[in-house]
This record gives sequence, C-alpha cells and structure tokens, in this order.
Amino acid sequence: MQLHPITGVFGAEITGIDLKTGITEAVAEGLRDALDRHLVIVLRDQHLDADQQRALAAVFGVPAVNPYAHGDPDHPEMTRIVKEADERTGVFGGGWHTDLSFLDHPPRGSVLCGIDIPPYGGDTMYSSQQAAWDSLPGPLQELLEHRRVAHVGKPYGIKWAPPVEEQAMKGSTKRGDPEADRERWHPAVLTHPVTGRKGLYVNPTYALRIEGMSEEMSRPILEQIFAHCALPEHGLRLRWTPGMVAVWDNYATQHYAINDYHGFRREMRRVAFQTEGLEAWGGR
Ligand code: SIN
Repeated sequence: MQLHPITGVFGAEITGIDLKTGITEAVAEGLRDALDRHLVIVLRDQHLDADQQRALAAVFGVPAVNPYAHGDPDHPEMTRIVKEADERTGVFGGGWHTDLSFLDHPPRGSVLCGIDIPPYGGDTMYSSQQAAWDSLPGPLQELLEHRRVAHVGKPYGIKWAPPVEEQAMKGSTKRGDPEADRERWHPAVLTHPVTGRKGLYVNPTYALRIEGMSEEMSRPILEQIFAHCALPEHGLRLRWTPGMVAVWDNYATQHYAINDYHGFRREMRRVAFQTEGLEAWGGR
C-alpha cells in the first residue's frame, strides 16, 4: 500500500491495493491509520458494488442508516446521490457541512463511490478542520475552546426548511421533521483520539449559536469562523473518476458538493459509519 499526499495539509491517495479482492486485517490497519493521519483517503479504479462498499465502511466503524435519506431497499445504509442531466435544482450536500452534525450521534465518517461521473465538474471540496483550528486567531481559539455550539437540522426540519422547489433530491430525502429543529449541543473543538490534533466542529449548514450567546450575537462570530474554515489553504478539491472511492473523517473535515455540471448526470453511492462517538473526542 502506497500513500501519496494530495495537498501539503491533508488528504492522501492510496495505490497498490484492490478492495474488491477482500480486505485483510493488515490492509484494514493501514487504511485506518491513513484516515487518522490524512482525514480524507482516496482510491481510484475500485468499482465497488454495494456489498464491497459496505465492507470498506466496516473497516472504520459500523455502517449506519441515514435517518434523513431513503436507503436502497437491499442495502438500507446506502444512499444513492443522483442528479439527472435535466435537473436544475441544488445538489445533495451543496454547501459546507459535516454530515448530520445536528444529531445526538453524528456519523464518524462516510465512504463515497463514484458511479456515473460527468465529463467535467461535480468535484467535491473538503476542508481540514484541524488546519482551520491551527490557523484560527488566538482570541477566537480562546472563545471557542471549552464551549459548545448548538446544531439544528435546518434542511430537514420545519423552521428553516428551504422552499420545495429549491430542495435537492426531492423525494429521496426526508423533510419536515420537527425533531430536526431541536438544538443539539456539541463541543466547538474536538480532539482526535489517536493523533491528539484539535479541530473545529462547527459548520454553516447546521451550527446555529454559540453557548452563552443568542443567535444574533453568535451570527457574526460564526460567519467569521465559517469564512476561515473555507480558506483555500485548508482545502482539498477532489476530481472524481468512475470507480473512485473516497473515505472521510466527518469529525475533522467539512465537505461541499459543487453543483457545476448542468446537462450531465452524476450518480454517487454513499454509506456512513459510526464509531465510539463524540465523547471520545472531548466529550460534550
Ligand atoms: C455529500 O456527501 O454531502 C455529497 C458529496 C458529493 O456528492 O460529492
């Protein structure tokens, strides 16, 4: 197994293994170690079927059903992310976010397979929240460390839900759940249990307000942090090829699906996985 860093900050492409032939314990160890250290790992030309993708997710944790997306009937943990060539809506994941951070137990990571890839466009952006924390100005670090942030499921609830015509993957995602409007509190800063690196855990899709502050007081501070997280220096842009698979750490990165491939079809298959949860990353 060889590792090739993608940027000077995070992300690694892995070569020299074929995930279809079965994953030995030695390979599984190497993959877990690579994810711990690089946060996003990518393997080309794997062309995994749903069972093989599930087996890859099981290397990192327990494959998990997405409570806000209809699963594949035969593989309930799998979400098919499809935008047809003639669709003019937004895309699933088309804004900076960490997956489902408004849940009590957000998924630890995801495995995404490229099935049908447009000839150009449709890249996924990632941002290292560890790099964003390291370069955050001291006063903001002091403000956030040991504080919690409230997260709400804006796209899936009632209070903040976008109008139906703007919703991506209409019919494939579950909307209108009042539970998604309920505030869930998570630490603003997490510590990776293996590497000890700190990272921000706030994202513009779900973070609502900082502990001890109103929404209005929090807003300008959060906006400043979101802009900082999105700096190119903390980013990685993944160009997909058919059969490629990416695995990311959802507690230490944000991601963003770019909606720039109108006129072309794009299909991805995604499964999330759970590990011990946020408690192991600094409690709540
Ligand atoms: C997502 O998981 O948010 C979507 C990623 C993508 O389709 O590129």
